[in-house]
Amino acid sequence: MISQNTIAQVFDTARVEEVIGDFVQLKKAGSNFKGLSPFSDERTPSFMVSPVKQIWKDFSTGKGGNAVTFLMEHEHFTYPEAIKYLAKKYNIEIEETEQTDEQKAQADARESLYLVSEYANTYFQKTMLKTDKGQAIGLSYFNERGFSEDTIKKFQLGYSLDEWQAFTDDALGKGYKLEFLEQTGLTIVKEEKRFDRFKGRVMFPIHSMSGRVLGFGGRILTNDKKAAKYLNSPESEIYHKSKVLYGLYFAKQSIAKEDNCYLVEGYTDVIQFSQTGVQNVVSSSGTALTSEQIRLINRLTNNITVLFDGDAAGLRASIRGIDLILEQGMNVRVCTFADGEDPDSFAKNNSLEELKDYLHTNSKDFIQFKASLLVKEANNDPIKKAETIREIVNSIAKIPDAIKREVYVQECASIMDISESVLFSTLAQISKKGAQEANKQYKQQQKAFEVVKNEPSSKHKIDVQYELERKIIEILMLYGDKTEQFEDLILKEDEVSKDLILEPTVHQARVFEKIYLDLQEDEMMFSNERFKTLYYSLIDKLNQDQNFSTKNFINQLDQESASEVTSILMEDEKYNLHDWERNQIIPKEKEHSISQLVSQTILSLRCHLIDKKVAEYQNKTLNNTDTRNIMEDVKDYLGLKMLLSRKLGKVIS
Ligand code: CTP
Ligand code: MN
Repeated sequence: MISQNTIAQVFDTARVEEVIGDFVQLKKAGSNFKGLSPFSDERTPSFMVSPVKQIWKDFSTGKGGNAVTFLMEHEHFTYPEAIKYLAKKYNIEIEETEQTDEQKAQADARESLYLVSEYANTYFQKTMLKTDKGQAIGLSYFNERGFSEDTIKKFQLGYSLDEWQAFTDDALGKGYKLEFLEQTGLTIVKEEKRFDRFKGRVMFPIHSMSGRVLGFGGRILTNDKKAAKYLNSPESEIYHKSKVLYGLYFAKQSIAKEDNCYLVEGYTDVIQFSQTGVQNVVSSSGTALTSEQIRLINRLTNNITVLFDGDAAGLRASIRGIDLILEQGMNVRVCTFADGEDPDSFAKNNSLEELKDYLHTNSKDFIQFKASLLVKEANNDPIKKAETIREIVNSIAKIPDAIKREVYVQECASIMDISESVLFSTLAQISKKGAQEANKQYKQQQKAFEVVKNEPSSKHKIDVQYELERKIIEILMLYGDKTEQFEDLILKEDEVSKDLILEPTVHQARVFEKIYLDLQEDEMMFSNERFKTLYYSLIDKLNQDQNFSTKNFINQLDQESASEVTSILMEDEKYNLHDWERNQIIPKEKEHSISQLVSQTILSLRCHLIDKKVAEYQNKTLNNTDTRNIMEDVKDYLGLKMLLSRKLGKVIS
């Protein structure tokens, strides 16, 4: 178990914008950061991070929380995993309290799979670097490929002995369970027999975006034609091929910084590029690129450059996959290598400068590239040319941005030497077909927004009480522990005239005390159950804890309440995204001091409650003959309302 001390230190040190910045490309937007939601497939950013409040909110899915909950949502970490990750990121030493056998057993299955994979990774590296066979076979292979010692260390390359169950036996001996060895695919179990899946292969560990080992690729070293050259871990609870990009963990910062990502075919291309000095490179490792993988890149940059080997047959097939990238609104460039050359060999045989120069000179816009390629292929054959037109327009139709589409139509018309109008009408035909599909997509996107819209705050008529209760929660969270000067008007009898007058008095109080006492005085109860619960737990926490922090508070809430709380805290941002008239009834804190904000909110709530009471009475008078008593009450309430309004006026001014 991680000690409370460590947890507290992690919470104090971690900055939500830094933590999220490792996964999502964030742009400054006022005092906040904005980015594309990592939880949905959106094109306009609705993901907000507030450095001031130290929280994040994803308006497309409604999720939200602090740095720890982000890691739990995004990386599917457990709570201790998230804390450990942050401790590592911020160089905080983890203080462990002794773990009992029972606790060890309780560590969930996913964690066990991670641990087994991590162990295997260390084992394969050790086997390669520290054993005779490892050095003679594995290490010498990598050396021949030209991988330096640093590169081998960085990518954690290893070797699996050419023995049936060397690894499995070792892992079982260390106490790792066969069940998890089998689930990760490291061990193949056949009846009574166990086999090392990667027997006799050099090993490439595959990391998650945050650096955990998810699976492996293993390259065979013999010329056995029957065995696969590369073997990968099977899908497991922790390894989903379609959602992982090889090298992303090492490349993510460089991708964001360079604002471009090179996409190559495999492990060796990534490693060779990195060794030569181009770091912003990833690979989908043998399989076709998926939209989930593109989304991983899209969070870091809008620009992708796909690198192709020299052989022309492969090129034609690979080009189809690129439409997927266009669909996500990314700018795609392609770069091809000479016949017989691939990114791996080119990087190996050239200096960094030459490599950069080559990439720079030979990267072409994808649509232009495809158009030129097709023109060459059609080679004046009219039927082929017609097909070609349809094919290029198909790609253009995938681009979500209308202006970009138009520019491409113009460019392709000139490259292919046909009139723009032919291209435009083909585009219209295709778009018509695609329109239904697009419409479906659009509706889905709208649905995502309805998550926000459906919250009670945005019913057609604004629910004033709801808004004010919500505001009180917000104030408690942001300023609850602050000490402020409150100016109150006390109702007094004037000594001379015996009239009732309002006398201003100033007193000092902590914000939460002021709110609690004022609301109690009015016997005011929250009408919304969720707010009521939050209110009492906030008051409770603030009362007990001298060092109240929003971060810690959110952290101990269940997921639903945490989501609600972050919604409240991100209110301003939401209304930047959706322009609603709501701000009229809620004071804006920027324009007033905290004490004014508090007083005004409470008074607004009181006025509202009085209005409600008066309305109730008016309803009663309609159905009641004995109206005298009721009228008296109404008069009292209206009098009170007038006093309050005067107070409110004073506060606002
Ligand atoms: N690859 C793969 N599965 C295969 C073949 C290739 O995943 N069956 C990927 C690997 O990641 C490899 C890349 O494609 O790094 C390039 O393939 P290739 O050149 O065939 O692999 P090399 O290891 O470079 O083999 P060679 O030394 O023969 O070039
Ligand atoms: Mn190769």
